[in-house]
Amino acid sequence: MAKDFAAMEDSNRSANPSIHDVSQPSRRVVLRGGLGAALAPLLAPLGAAGLGGCAATSDPARWPWAAVGPRLGFASVPTSAADRLSVPAGYTADILLPWGEPVGVPGHMPDWRHDASNTAADQAVQMGMHHDGIHYFALDGSRRGLLVMNHEYADDGLLHVGGVTNWSAEKVAKSQAAHGVSVTEIVWQGDRWQAVRPSPYARRFTAATPFAVGGPAAGHALMQTAADPSGLRVLGTFNNCASGMTPWGTYLSGEENFAYYFNAGEQPAPHERRWGLRKNGAGYRWHEHDARFDAVQHPNEPNRFGWIVEIDPFDPQSVPVKRTALGRAAHEGAWVAATRDGRAVVYSGEDARFEYLYKFVSRDTIRPGGAKANATLLDHGTLHVARFDADGRGRWLPMVAGQGALTAFADQGDVVIRARQASDALGATKMDRPEWLAIDTRSRWVYCTLTNNSNRGQPGQPGVDAANPRANNVMGQIIRWKEDGDFDGATFEWNHLVLAGDPANERAEAKGNIQGDIFACPDGIAFDARGTLWVQTDMGPTAMNRGEMARIGNNQMLACDLATGEMRRFLVGPVNCEITGATWTPDGRTMFINVQHPGETPSERSDPAEPRKFSSWPDYRPDGRPRSATVVIRKNDGGVIGS
Ligand code: FEO
Ligand code: CA
Ligand code: CA
Repeated sequence: MAKDFAAMEDSNRSANPSIHDVSQPSRRVVLRGGLGAALAPLLAPLGAAGLGGCAATSDPARWPWAAVGPRLGFASVPTSAADRLSVPAGYTADILLPWGEPVGVPGHMPDWRHDASNTAADQAVQMGMHHDGIHYFALDGSRRGLLVMNHEYADDGLLHVGGVTNWSAEKVAKSQAAHGVSVTEIVWQGDRWQAVRPSPYARRFTAATPFAVGGPAAGHALMQTAADPSGLRVLGTFNNCASGMTPWGTYLSGEENFAYYFNAGEQPAPHERRWGLRKNGAGYRWHEHDARFDAVQHPNEPNRFGWIVEIDPFDPQSVPVKRTALGRAAHEGAWVAATRDGRAVVYSGEDARFEYLYKFVSRDTIRPGGAKANATLLDHGTLHVARFDADGRGRWLPMVAGQGALTAFADQGDVVIRARQASDALGATKMDRPEWLAIDTRSRWVYCTLTNNSNRGQPGQPGVDAANPRANNVMGQIIRWKEDGDFDGATFEWNHLVLAGDPANERAEAKGNIQGDIFACPDGIAFDARGTLWVQTDMGPTAMNRGEMARIGNNQMLACDLATGEMRRFLVGPVNCEITGATWTPDGRTMFINVQHPGETPSERSDPAEPRKFSSWPDYRPDGRPRSATVVIRKNDGGVIGS
């Protein structure tokens, strides 16, 4: 989601940055994360069913095409401000499963209507709006699988006939149904991927779907509400941004800007303000017809969001779970590594200005047997928050109730529910909006995009530090670290892969150090099994193609050869979209990415009288409206993507 709700995602007023303030920002770009590093013994013995290509499965012993070269075997795609999607010569991009297509629930497959007249009940079994994180789970290798993806948010101006006029319970229900996660079955038929409809796997998770709660916040007093005195059953997930997957074959999704959806009234409490809650949220107006979104009446309801949720896509009857041991945050997503002795290490970030990076280390080891055998693995372990020091070293600070600076926290449930406050108390480093992470299982470096932070260094705001070295940071950077010892290490070394922005930019704060094609605002990031790092961008609609951003064009996707540091542009999206989410079939010959919010307006609520004001992608119908969609990328010669 492009963010123009600046006030809401900047709510950290804690006084803990000064120990990291430095006068000489680090500009090092040390390319040690590339080829030639020892291969990690990885997840092969874990028996996970049907894992697609991603960082956690990039063991070349399992994926023999991993060595296919050349690493950047395509011609750079030029920047563009046009309302079309561009890929390199020799590649084809097809549209799959745009917003509103039926997911394939047997007996419930309402057709998409271009005038947005589908009902809330229709939307609850159709693809949601605003596709984001995505993962391919193989059912039959690279020929048949499940696509699981997030639908981050809804543009109520596009979603309803008449937009937000005549606001009603039906419109709230449709808005809630347009959020969440979808599971669709897809199959390769002859020359293209198609949805399998109906499918026993087809499923939607929306803002009304029952979720169980696992971990230290399960049943906690701060999780209890009038409708759920147990604090164990939460309705819904929403603002699901990035995705991850586990070695045991489940899908992880982050509940990002949950604060947008609640009305906190005229005088939010300090705890609410720290989480960005405010009067009327970001204008979703759900509370007008669904009282649980009125935090004045139901102050604990917001505590039930901001979690990483775990979904077993292979079992259509499975109950999704909120994994509270991983901490509460405006989570972008979650990414899993494994220690050499088989424990799960889950990295996650919080995409908000001056918020934090987290690492959870499970108590127990991953067991063979898939999701059922690991049903509580993420409920027991130790959560940490990152501190990046100016000398290129860092430390993971344990977040344990009653220990160290956390003596004021009553119990571990209190720590995870108020994770921001606990991180403030521990003196964690306030970051420039951590978005996606990617784990290089060969070199064991972990990468994180820090998308931007225009508030950095502004009056009354935290200044620069070594990890976040630019004031008024509109371009963003990619940071990386390597743990001392194993992934559960307490300390690490770190540096920047790249500072985004045009190296030729005359404005010092916007000047980047990119080698190759320029970009800004990195967001999605993922390794393919060849160890190529794919980077996707999310410049907001008020910045894109204006001023110094004009030279960068529309949002895009690039591939980075870590051996040389070169960034090469592979794809440019249509007007005012962001490019997000990346997953591959196990053979590496199909790549799925998402185009989110084509034609997004600066207000983030489209005018229903002019739905195609900025973009008509992908249908280009005079009576239609722009739709987020998955894009299927194939090489025309059938080769490995990027080679
Ligand atoms: Fe939903 Fe942080 O982008
Ligand atoms: Ca973003
Ligand atoms: Ca994002």
